[in-house]
Amino acid sequence: MLKRVEKINKGLSGEITIPADKSISHRAVMFSSIASGNCIIRNFSSGADCHSTLNIFKQLGVNIDFIDKKTLSVNSDGTLKKSFSPLDAGNSGTTTRLVSGILAGQNFDSVIIGDESLSKRPMKRIIEPLTLMGAKIESVDGHAPLTIHGGKLKGINYTSKLASAQVKSCILLAGLYAEGETTVTEPYVSRNHTELLLDYLGADIKVNGTSVTVRPSELEAKDITVVGDISSAAFFIAAGLIVPNSDFIIKNVGLNPTRAGIIDIVKRMTGEISILNEHNESGEPVGDIRVRYSENLNGCTIEGEDIPKLIDELPVIAVLASQADGQTVVKNAEDLRNKESDRIRCLVSELTKIGINITEKTDGFIIEGKSKIEGGAELESYHDHRLAMSFYVAGLIAEKEIGINGFEWTKISFPEFEELFNKLV
Ligand code: S3P
Repeated sequence: MLKRVEKINKGLSGEITIPADKSISHRAVMFSSIASGNCIIRNFSSGADCHSTLNIFKQLGVNIDFIDKKTLSVNSDGTLKKSFSPLDAGNSGTTTRLVSGILAGQNFDSVIIGDESLSKRPMKRIIEPLTLMGAKIESVDGHAPLTIHGGKLKGINYTSKLASAQVKSCILLAGLYAEGETTVTEPYVSRNHTELLLDYLGADIKVNGTSVTVRPSELEAKDITVVGDISSAAFFIAAGLIVPNSDFIIKNVGLNPTRAGIIDIVKRMTGEISILNEHNESGEPVGDIRVRYSENLNGCTIEGEDIPKLIDELPVIAVLASQADGQTVVKNAEDLRNKESDRIRCLVSELTKIGINITEKTDGFIIEGKSKIEGGAELESYHDHRLAMSFYVAGLIAEKEIGINGFEWTKISFPEFEELFNKLV
């Protein structure tokens, strides 16, 4: 679907509530499916990725029912049953990698399949540690479909080269079923939703700096309320900062410090952002964000430990940085090439078409600020939801209308995206 976006001639204003966090929604269904007892999950994501996870656990024999569109009841005895048909993870890397960890520890075999994009994404990063734990996994040269021969696992002490929450979570989940202790150490702390939620559900899990250790544990079902997704809020934060005269409130945004890197960056750029009503929900910090148009943003360097805290926000940060004063340099983000698209290559090719001055680097990109966004071009979203939404934000300040091909991919994480934008216009 081709979406046309025109420059808006007034500021964004009002108040919106951001829908559920994708990472936490996945984990809520997964962990309550392997916990014993009944629970209610409130504010579950309506994104297609989280529904892939939900359908997989139904297929694995867990009773999951919708009470309403965003409320689930999960009823499990903590065990899973073999599925005789393949488990379809769709477009979702999180589903594939985390579910693989769980399935490696079962006493049955499973096959995980996915769409074209998912089938290109690297799975060696989980096959290698799971194999060290004793799992037997067949893949197509390190890619899905994955055949997981479930069986007995042993704990490992694993040092990951990547700061990846998906890799860390996969190993920790396998560790719940392994003999002895399992420790994962990462170069930098990646998002810690797995640690927080496993702890909330009673797992034996300990964090020590960049290391996390888990022991075999039985989880106890507990109601979970999912906070709003900061990665979805990011599109609104960027838009508010660059659309002249904007001033609005984004309610119910998850503010977990391992995820909220965009807020640190906006402050580094001297953007006008403030946090209100901070509180806690099912173990996760949450609050409201006020964002205002900020004419004098500064470019900055984003690197090292910043990266895992805002990895999914880098496409929209590229658009934001195009309006700052001076250069913005993004380094150490090579894993952006392994997301739903090669986000470095695709960002550079598409943003260049509309007049943004962006240079490709192996591990990131450099943006020259105060780029005039000319627009007047059709951009390709490469089946990547976050690229489609980032281009939409650029379109709001482009001189000439832009077109976005494949805009329907926003349904992967944020089907409500455009409806919410319209509320602020
Ligand atoms: C996710 C972790 C990140 C992120 C993805 C969701 C998660 O991936 O890009 O959208 O829920 O654990 P990596 O941890 O592999 O970088």
